Amino acid sequence: MAQRHRDHLPEDFSERSLAQDVRAGLTSSPKTLPPKWFYDKVGSELYEEITRLPEYYPFAAEREILLDHAAEIVGAASCRHLVELGSGSSEKTRALIEAVLATTPEGEQAAYRAIDVSDSALHAAADDLAARYPTLDIETVRADFEHGLAQALAVDEGEVFGGRLVVFLGGTIGNQAPDQRAHFLTTLRSDLRAGDAFLLGADLVKSPDVLLPAYDDAAGVTAAFNLNVLEVVNSRLGADFDAADFRHVAVWDAEHAWIEMRLEAVRDVHVRIADLDLEVDFAAGEQLRTEISAKFTRERLQAEFEQAGFAAAGWWTDRANRFSGSLWTPA
Ligand code: AVI
Repeated sequence: MAQRHRDHLPEDFSERSLAQDVRAGLTSSPKTLPPKWFYDKVGSELYEEITRLPEYYPFAAEREILLDHAAEIVGAASCRHLVELGSGSSEKTRALIEAVLATTPEGEQAAYRAIDVSDSALHAAADDLAARYPTLDIETVRADFEHGLAQALAVDEGEVFGGRLVVFLGGTIGNQAPDQRAHFLTTLRSDLRAGDAFLLGADLVKSPDVLLPAYDDAAGVTAAFNLNVLEVVNSRLGADFDAADFRHVAVWDAEHAWIEMRLEAVRDVHVRIADLDLEVDFAAGEQLRTEISAKFTRERLQAEFEQAGFAAAGWWTDRANRFSGSLWTPA
């Protein structure tokens, strides 16, 4: 079956937006960096390692939902076209792909479109899927769905018959700030058509006794993942951060219902970011926020989706009720 690829990002997309984010984030008060810059090669490997940690339940919990309920989810969405936002390795999506293939009538075409910013992840995933599912129509789209959702979801006239199931897994929606999330849901709603559906994987509010170790594991893998963002800024923008000057901090913010990951300066630190011609000072104890990871209740998701113009079409959790899969259709 044919594999197609579209690229919607300029060559220097990553360099330009990293420079903007670092300048804006390190000159603001309090200092921040967006979590998307964690994922260079080392950061992606550390994240893979995080997903295998005993304390980091979201990955296994979501996989359990997909393995247990894929047929039901695909049945409720009644779609033959899957579109995945932030597809990465597409590993967990295989359960959904298999459910789509199993329900596609003879003579009709099942299709999967993977959307991600990483060319290498897209190509590796597409090759793997093509070998596993020779009858699947596969399209890869390199796009930043935060800024180019409409383009990423666009279809040529006659390309798609029936509805599409757009999936956004991993709990990544929790890494968006509330205003970004509201904007994302409203934009998504306006880019969906009648007959389309949206499947969201979202982590659920639970005791800090479970949440905090998931973001501050005993083996120190999450600490290394968090500190690695300083190496990303060093290698790509000529900065001179010393990771030994900072320590990993994970905090549960009950008011906002999110985990915050921060890097705390253990002494007064002066950093030069050569490519930005920028000098930044941290006082001992000052914290740089590197990630929020929001946790949800069913009621909160329902309210936010209704606000954006969606209706609820299905709700699943893992057996221990830690993580959710929820299905939404245009209202
Ligand atoms: C990718 N994202 C959903 C992860 C999360 O849980 O928020 C990233 C992560 N941060 C620390 N551990 C994992």
